[in-house]
Amino acid sequence: MSEVKSYIEQHKDRFIQELFELLRIPSISADPKYKDEVFRTAEAVKESLVKAGADNCRLIPTAGFPVVYGEKMIDPAKPTVLIYGHYDVQPAEPLELWTSGAFEPEIRDGYIYARGSADDKGQVFMHVKAFELMMNTGSLPCNIKFMIEGEEEVGSANLAPFLKENKELLKADVILISDTSMIANDVPSLTVGLRGLSYVEVEVTGPNIDLHSGVYGGAVANPCNILAKMIASMHDENNHITIPGFYDDVVEVSAEERAEMAKAPFSLDEYKKELAVGDVWGETGYSVPERTSIRPTLDVNGIWGGYTGEGAKTVLPSKAYAKISMRLVPNQDPDKITELFKNHFERIAPRSVTVKVTPHHGGLPVVTETNTPEYKAAAMAMKETFGKDPIPQRGGGSIPIVALFGEVLGLKSVLMGFGLDSDAIHSPNEKYGVFNYLKGIETIPYYFKYYTELKK
Ligand code: BES
Ligand code: MN
Ligand code: MN
Repeated sequence: MSEVKSYIEQHKDRFIQELFELLRIPSISADPKYKDEVFRTAEAVKESLVKAGADNCRLIPTAGFPVVYGEKMIDPAKPTVLIYGHYDVQPAEPLELWTSGAFEPEIRDGYIYARGSADDKGQVFMHVKAFELMMNTGSLPCNIKFMIEGEEEVGSANLAPFLKENKELLKADVILISDTSMIANDVPSLTVGLRGLSYVEVEVTGPNIDLHSGVYGGAVANPCNILAKMIASMHDENNHITIPGFYDDVVEVSAEERAEMAKAPFSLDEYKKELAVGDVWGETGYSVPERTSIRPTLDVNGIWGGYTGEGAKTVLPSKAYAKISMRLVPNQDPDKITELFKNHFERIAPRSVTVKVTPHHGGLPVVTETNTPEYKAAAMAMKETFGKDPIPQRGGGSIPIVALFGEVLGLKSVLMGFGLDSDAIHSPNEKYGVFNYLKGIETIPYYFKYYTELKK
């Protein structure tokens, strides 16, 4: 057995227990109630780096939650790998749908259940443990830096200035990130693209107060009805988005590339079965994997207004609201898309209502190259531990800061995630396979090995 494997075999129970400690702290960045817990999580991540043998470990303050930094510089002549990840998590609601507590991690059927198990504490902690392994087996082949942030789930707004102010500290040769998924445990893949994001909140106002829906209903516009109609009109019969100019900057993927993508295993039947849907939905002319990677989307994330309490109250509401996300692909620009949305939304609103559009966070799409030592080292590492070449695949999610790593730091990012799409990230019963956790810890040291060799 290799030294890597035997170290993991010997320490795996502790690796799991230590991750549990981290998963017990509810680091929900979106909810001010959890502010202290988010700070406590940053401290815990820092302590784990100290214990693993990192130097200069500290919390670097930002206007929001701190960035956890740590490093091990063994030789200035050797390359430096910068690990990025996030210690904040999404809110756990709806709590009643969790089988075990969202912040009371437990293992069932080989999965670690907890908010943040896959996204991203479990994946961050693989790097901490892989670092510990390399330190304790004397096999760290190059320099390593950690930058673990606490605001990814709320858009990383304070990380952009952080990058600009800390260029020297963050000097490295590549950024290695585990915050994405693979196709399946026996079909390893590397993420070579992320979608961008434009997120807006809309408010539709009808009459100045809630009205009796019998006395006024039929004569006064109902903002809930109007909003539903406006939203429905934003897809045409082919499920194309109808906002003028929305597709103007979309890079169409070539037929060759689409044919290459189609080779990745995908079962429509299993997909439908897993999600309990009678059929899929989406843009005419594109497959499910294409719809979730190379094509932009517009989705309502939440919609409310009027009476939503127990029983029935007859009311014609004054206001209706929705939160809408648009996933973007190269070369769409989030600011431009937000502006197009706003203009369109205002234009299609009937005179019977007034509307307000408030932009939230956004992020640029990215596509990464495969013909680079940075990528090849990841492919070699996965080949080593999975016994198969990984398939390059563009992901549907967003990590807004990745584009800025290129722009501000001039660094390529490698997206070597070990989760699965079925991990239920952001959902109740989020889980992360023990297999995936340990496989990540096993694969990461090989990344360091091969990257150092390829950079020679
Ligand atoms: N780790 C995810 C992104 C992800 C998941 C990428 C799976 C590819 C596959 C990340 O934590 C995330 O959830 N990002 C947010 C964006 C953010 C601005 C809230 C997203 O994609 O919704
Ligand atoms: Mn994440
Ligand atoms: Mn997330």
